[in-house]
Amino acid sequence: MFAKAYDWLDERLNIKGQVKEILDHPVPPHVNWLYCFGGITFTLIMLQIVTGIFLVMYYVPSPDHAYASVEYISKEVTFGKLIRNMHRLGSSGVVVMVVVHLLRVYFHGAYKKPRELNWMVGVFLLMVVMGFGFTGYLLPWDQKAYWATVVGTKMAGSVPLMGEFIIKVARGGMDLGAVTLTRFFALHIWFLPAILLGMLGAHFFMIRKQGISGPM
Ligand code: HEM
Repeated sequence: MFAKAYDWLDERLNIKGQVKEILDHPVPPHVNWLYCFGGITFTLIMLQIVTGIFLVMYYVPSPDHAYASVEYISKEVTFGKLIRNMHRLGSSGVVVMVVVHLLRVYFHGAYKKPRELNWMVGVFLLMVVMGFGFTGYLLPWDQKAYWATVVGTKMAGSVPLMGEFIIKVARGGMDLGAVTLTRFFALHIWFLPAILLGMLGAHFFMIRKQGISGPM
C-alpha cells in the first residue's frame, strides 16, 4: 500500500529524483568512524526535539506550577520518567558529542580554507547548544535550578559597563522570578530551536556544497 502511495506521489512530484539527489552521494574512501560525530550530534538533537515536544504537553511554565508539573511528568505520566530522563541525559550527550565533533574537525584541520565559514557557523551552533542547557536547567524550578540561574545570570552581569543591562535582559528585571521563567521557557522552546534549525540548514548546505574535507 505504501509503495503504491509512494509511486503515486512520485509520478506527480518526482520524489525519487529529489531523494537520489540529496542522499545518493558517494562517501569518499578516506571517511572513517571519526566522521560520525557530527551525525551522532544531529541524531541526539532530533531525539531532544521529539522528547521535548512530549514534555511540553505537560510542563507548565509558571512559578506556581512548574515544579509540580515536572513531578507529575516523572511520577504519573505514562513513560513520563523515561521521556524526561532521555531529555535530561540527552542534553549532556549533545554537549559531549558536539565537543568531540569540534575536536575531530580541529585535529583534521577541517576549519581551514574553504571551510572557515562553516567553522564559524559551528561556533554559533556550540553557543546555541550551551544556551539550550542553560535555559533548560531553570525549567524544573527547584532549588538547584533557581540558584544555578541566579549564579549564572550574575556571572553574565559582571561584564563591565553592560552588566546591569545584561542581568535585566536575562532575568526580565533585577530579580529572578516569573518573568525569568517565562523568558527562559520561550528561549528554550521557540527562539533557540528556530536558530538551531536555521544554522544546521546552513551547516549541512555548506558541507554538501564543499564536500567533506580530504585525508589529513
Ligand atoms: C549542533 C551541533 C552540530 C551538528 C549537528 C553538526 C553536524 C555536522 C555533520 C553531520 C558534519 C559532517 C560529518 C562530520 O564531519 O562529522 C559536520 C561537519 C563539520 N562541522 Fe559540524 N556540527 C555541529 C557543530 C559544529 C561545531 C561546534 C563546529 C566547530 C566549531 C563544527 C564545524 C564543522 C566543520 C568545519 C565541518 C566540515 C568538516 C569537514 O569537511 O571535514 N560543527 N558537522
